[in-house]
Formats: sequence, structure tokens, C-alpha cells
Amino acid sequence: MSPFSVTRTLPEDATAAALRSDVLNGLSNDPKQLPPKWFYDARGSELFEEITRLPEYYPTRAEREILIERAPDIAAATRARTLVELGSGSSEKTRHLLDALTGLRAYVPVDVSESALTLAGEALLADRQELSVHALVADFQKGLALPDTPGPRLVAFLGGTIGNLLPAERAEFLGSVSALLSPGDALLLGTDLVKDEGTLVAAYDDSAGVTAAFNKNVLAVLDRELGADFDPDDFDHVAVWDPEQEWIEMRLRARSALTAKIPALDLAVTFAEGEELRTEISAKFREESVRSELAAAGLALRHWWTDGEGRFALSLAFPAEVERA
Ligand code: SAH
Ligand code: AVI
Repeated sequence: MSPFSVTRTLPEDATAAALRSDVLNGLSNDPKQLPPKWFYDARGSELFEEITRLPEYYPTRAEREILIERAPDIAAATRARTLVELGSGSSEKTRHLLDALTGLRAYVPVDVSESALTLAGEALLADRQELSVHALVADFQKGLALPDTPGPRLVAFLGGTIGNLLPAERAEFLGSVSALLSPGDALLLGTDLVKDEGTLVAAYDDSAGVTAAFNKNVLAVLDRELGADFDPDDFDHVAVWDPEQEWIEMRLRARSALTAKIPALDLAVTFAEGEELRTEISAKFREESVRSELAAAGLALRHWWTDGEGRFALSLAFPAEVERA
């Protein structure tokens, strides 16, 4: 059997139906909004990788620093034989975990981006021929069915992607992850931390304009998939810090009044001049908020590790019933 398999848990038409329903609901809402998962077609995944290399975008470097330092501790605390990674993207940082988890038998990357999974699988297997990789094209918010691989399982959710979920979505998501864990399994969670506004806004509004292109890419997805006629040049990229919610909001602001047609939905959407479409939130966390959100999902925080500058944290949590002192 090939050591690399890709399984679609959602048929293509379910993905198409989800896009139509999200666009119909989101663009009829006041204020207009779209879920961030639609950024990640092949171009969006490439742009995200470019973002991770920008001088202003510190989260990837900070999380990599923690992973390099703590991978041996994570391996000792979990003894994982299966690593499941949600929103795995390029799996680039994951290499540090794969190297440290010496008893690992299977790696299960899960992502909505099939192109990211395929590229990551090829890169990983180039130097790890013995690893069994079961890639899943799936939405991690829609009830995951994991392949039958040996325990203990470590579920990793890196990059701070949990911050892209709204608080109610986070609670539901953490509950569903907790329900997947058996005694002895663990969750490794990456969270970006609250910090000064200047650093945060620069990370989401870089001087080279890569984040702006990533943000506008969602319009290209709607044009291609739904036959819409959005022109990215009609919109400005906006990144603002909301100090009450403690999240960054990315928006697309209409430069002038306009109407966009979306033939697949038989819809015409009007924007007033300056009207904004929210495309992403990126929540920033504190240790106590992470601990209590995990606890509400039945997970006990056992380790909290940050990078040297205290910008980003990795948490290791276990099902609360089996928590040992
Ligand atoms: N974990 C990587 C990639 C983060 S980018 C890192 O830390 O660098 C976020 C990834 O999550 C993208 O690859 C995107 O396609 C995926 N993603 C976003 N929403 C998703 C969802 N609802 N279900 C599955 N994957 C999702
Ligand atoms: C994937 N996620 C954690 C990124 C973030 O920082 O919220 C997505 C991103 N958006 C703009 N830049 C990066």
C-alpha cells in the first residue's frame, strides 16, 4: 500500500453547496461577512505561505521556536503513535514534531485545501518514506471522522488558526475535538497572544501587500466558483485591532458604490462607498482564557509554553478525567 493516501470526507458538491450557502448568508448579512476558510484555494494557500515568511508576520517564527525547543517534551508527555493535524497547510513546522515523536506510526493531516495537502505530502515523504500519511480533505468544523490508526493520538492545531473562529464556534470546535480524544490522547494548541496594537496591525497589513493580496483572493474564489464579477481593485484591504474583543479584523472596503453580480446564486450585491465586508477575525489570547476555554470543553491544560519574547503560546492539554497531578 502507498504510504500516502488522500481521502475526501466531503464530496465536491457538498463543498460547493457550503460555499453557496456561506456566500448567500454572509453577503445578505449586515454587516457583510464571509468565513475565512474560503481564502484557501491553491493561490490562497500559496499566499499564506508567503505571509509566513514576511518580516512583520511573527506568529510562524515564534511558534516554530517553541516547537523546536519543546518537541522532546511533547514527545515524552504524549508518546503519540498517531499525529492528527487540523488545518495542516504546508505541514512545514510539523517536521519538528514528526522528528521528535519516535514511536509515531501515522500522520493524519486534515485541511480544506487539497493542493496544500498534496504538496505537503510529497515534501514529507521525500525524506520520510516509512511514515504512513493519511491526508483528509475535510472541514474541521464539520464533525471529523478519523481513520483507524494506533493510539495514543496527539491532535495538533497549530498556527493560531483557532483564533480565526468566532467564540461560539471555538467552543463548539473544542467540544468536538475533546469528544474525539480517548484517555491518554492529547491536544496541542497554538495560540497567538495579546500584544501591542502596532505589532499586531503590521502583521496583518504588511508593507509588501501580501496580506492584502491574500485578503482579496477570496473575491477571486467567488468569481471563479460562482461566476461573480468582483474586481479586487474596487476594494481596499483593511486590518484593525478591536481592543474589546481582542481580535484583529480583516475587511475589504469598497472604494466606491458598486454592485456585484453572483450568477450562481442569482444575486446582485450592492456596496455603499466605504462599506466593509469582514473576511476574517484573528483572535489573540491570554493564558487564563485558553485554560478556561479548554476546561469548558473538558480538557485540562497541562503545559503552557511561550517563545522567548512571549508573543505566541503552545498549550498541551489532556482529557480532564485522566488528568494526573
Ligand atoms: N497550520 C499551518 C497552516 C495555517 S493556515 C501553519 O501553522 O502554518 C490555516 C490552514 O487551515 C489552511 O491550510 C486552511 O486551508 C486550513 N483551514 C481553514 N479553515 C479550515 C476548515 N474549516 N477546515 C479545514 N481546514 C481549514
Ligand atoms: C491561519 N491564521 C492563523 C492566520 C492568522 O494569522 O490569523 C491567517 C492570516 N490572515 C492574515 N494573515 C494570516
